[in-house]
Amino acid sequence: MGCSNNKSKVQNLKLGDQIIEKKVDSVLSLMTLKEKIGQMVQYNGGWDLTGPPSKMSDKEKVEKLKNGLVGSMLNVVSVKATREAQKLVMDNSRLKIPLIFGYDVIHGYKTIFPIPLGESASWDLALIKKSAAMAAKEASASGIQWTFAPMMDISRDARWGRIMEGAGEDPYLNSMIAVARVQGFQGDDLSKENTIAACAKHFAGYGLAEAGREYNTVNIGEFELNNEVLPPFKAAAEAGVATFMNSFNELDGIPATAHKGIQRDLLKGKWNWNGFIVSDWGSIGELVPHGIAKDKYQASEIAIKAGSDMDMESHAYEANLEKLVNDGKIDVALINDAVKRILKLKFELGLFDDPYKYCNEEREVREVYSAENQKFAREVAKKSIVLLKNEDQLLPLKKSIKSIAVIGPLAYDKDTPLGNWRAQGKSYSAVSLLEGVKNMVSPTTEVVYQKGCDFILNDLKPGQSLFSHPLNINKTDISKIPAAVAAAKKADVVLLAIGENAYQTGEGRSQTNIGFAGVQSQLLKAVLQVNKNVVIILMNGRPMDITWASEHVPSILECWHLGSQAGNAIADVLFGDYNPSGKLPVSFPYNVGQEPLYYNHKNTGRPYNGGKLVTYSGYRDAPNNALYPFGFGLSYTSFRYDNLKLDKSKISKEGTINLSVDVTNTGNLDGEEVIQMYIHDRVGSITRPVKELKAFKKEMFKVGETKTINFTINNKILQFYTANKKWEVEPGDFDVFIGGNSVNTLKESFEVIN
Ligand code: NOJ
Repeated sequence: MGCSNNKSKVQNLKLGDQIIEKKVDSVLSLMTLKEKIGQMVQYNGGWDLTGPPSKMSDKEKVEKLKNGLVGSMLNVVSVKATREAQKLVMDNSRLKIPLIFGYDVIHGYKTIFPIPLGESASWDLALIKKSAAMAAKEASASGIQWTFAPMMDISRDARWGRIMEGAGEDPYLNSMIAVARVQGFQGDDLSKENTIAACAKHFAGYGLAEAGREYNTVNIGEFELNNEVLPPFKAAAEAGVATFMNSFNELDGIPATAHKGIQRDLLKGKWNWNGFIVSDWGSIGELVPHGIAKDKYQASEIAIKAGSDMDMESHAYEANLEKLVNDGKIDVALINDAVKRILKLKFELGLFDDPYKYCNEEREVREVYSAENQKFAREVAKKSIVLLKNEDQLLPLKKSIKSIAVIGPLAYDKDTPLGNWRAQGKSYSAVSLLEGVKNMVSPTTEVVYQKGCDFILNDLKPGQSLFSHPLNINKTDISKIPAAVAAAKKADVVLLAIGENAYQTGEGRSQTNIGFAGVQSQLLKAVLQVNKNVVIILMNGRPMDITWASEHVPSILECWHLGSQAGNAIADVLFGDYNPSGKLPVSFPYNVGQEPLYYNHKNTGRPYNGGKLVTYSGYRDAPNNALYPFGFGLSYTSFRYDNLKLDKSKISKEGTINLSVDVTNTGNLDGEEVIQMYIHDRVGSITRPVKELKAFKKEMFKVGETKTINFTINNKILQFYTANKKWEVEPGDFDVFIGGNSVNTLKESFEVIN
């Protein structure tokens, strides 16, 4: 019964695809070359810039829309605005091909979830999928059908501000999270009104910018590209992601937007993926400053040949593609292919059936920022928190504690928790730490607030956002510190909220310092002198240098930029309503000089030997390892790992090993643990990382409970892109490691034979 049902579903799907293909062909046959090129053009709405402004006026854009010469718009939001723009096309253009509206729904639409890096710390794929689904529900209720997310760029460099937007340094974790997010956004049917198309970005290598400097050169070889950077994209393509976005960076001499090898040959060719690729903002035009095209005419030729289907805000395709065809430089078949891919998605979304399908004001009011969504945002936020240090079990606090000093420039900041890509999240709308604490404590607890220091001094005009402006950080004014010290002196415990402003991370926010900016360190030291019971509430979008704090402060809670419900979620953890379970998706360094720092590095020919001789790969003034490693996070309880067992010690390349390990909750509270499995391929045809995450499970353990956790090792886990330039398993010796982080692990070994 079940089988026959499945079969008919598959057949329907194929039939659906065929029907759409027929419809696409019939629309295409009606289109002029100009109209086809129009479908490949995407305009910014003009009132919400997420890139450098173009010279085109709104009036000109309106004329183009009316003439059916635009396929998509970005940054047009709300039912009202999208309907207005759609109406321009539907009421005036010849063929009435609906627009598709794209927007950066990165970590929520109006209900804001933790920044993606923070959410990734939950290692909870079902939760992540649900948060993407909820963001899709809000966005689609507000006229949007397409998000430019998820970002799946492997990022190992804390200097790179955009590290906040991905899932960190590991290809496997990134792949799993990318798939969860794609499934969340797209659901199982794009034609449903509450699902939106996702976009795998940035293809490829953007996160490995040299020296962490935004948009900088990326020089990685073919093996690193295939083994580390591409797997999340492949996983997203296999999960059916509707679109891809190419990236700003060059890749070993070829800008990604111009890279035929990865776009046309690999993604659309070998992987046989049938969605469309949108350029990043202006990235076709940027082929000129990159120095591989002398003007936008040549840039357009290179970009379309390479596989870029839609031009976001370069105004290159609209000005040049027709001439390129007429000059015989490009085959019109390339244009037909791009347009077919774009029309296909519009059909799948149901836009041809009803161009105003996503324009329902009543639904917008009901579904955007609903109480249900707020509740879930709190749930996601509390699960994203990572307990980094908790000496003498300072945490959790008792709700009946006598007095608390809530101190710091971020303590009553209702804006920073919204993070950088807050979409329609209303400025200053997050629950602050101070509010969260007050909501939680007993009526007898005295809660005193002191800002301690000003942080950002920008003078904003009403309606102005800091998204694309440099920050003016207070580096001198320490006049508010004495009042904070006085408050700290009298309190039982100090909650010190420091870290990064929302706009210190995100696009264009590279930094060479990753410590506490401004006068925050002075505040920390002054407070600590009068009260040792300090809990740092770290709010940030990148791994920071917190070495001094980590040596001197008893408790540190990594709280990222947690979104709309930040303060309540932090209070849930501070007062023990939720036992923290987050694990770091990125390594925290001792200092910035170690960057890029990642656990899955290569061994080198002279592995670090403890520093006794200098002729080994290490620093003379800093450790090699991380201060807090990948996968690390404490709980209010503790876990013990025993009895790591493999059912075989030798397998063939196609064989499987069943692995089991006993995990016991040895503490006094129920709690969740993320059990992580890593492998090391000791000898390969190319050098292999010292450890690679290959599987994980997040499990709840009652006090005293032991669970036997099982994993399977198979060829999917063991294969890699070898010297033969193929994905294959190579025979040889392997180590397998199991633990609650990437460092403290149990180890076993096995052999793969031919
Ligand atoms: C540039 C960013 O790199 C990209 O990720 C984003 O989607 C676009 N701007 C649109 O805002």
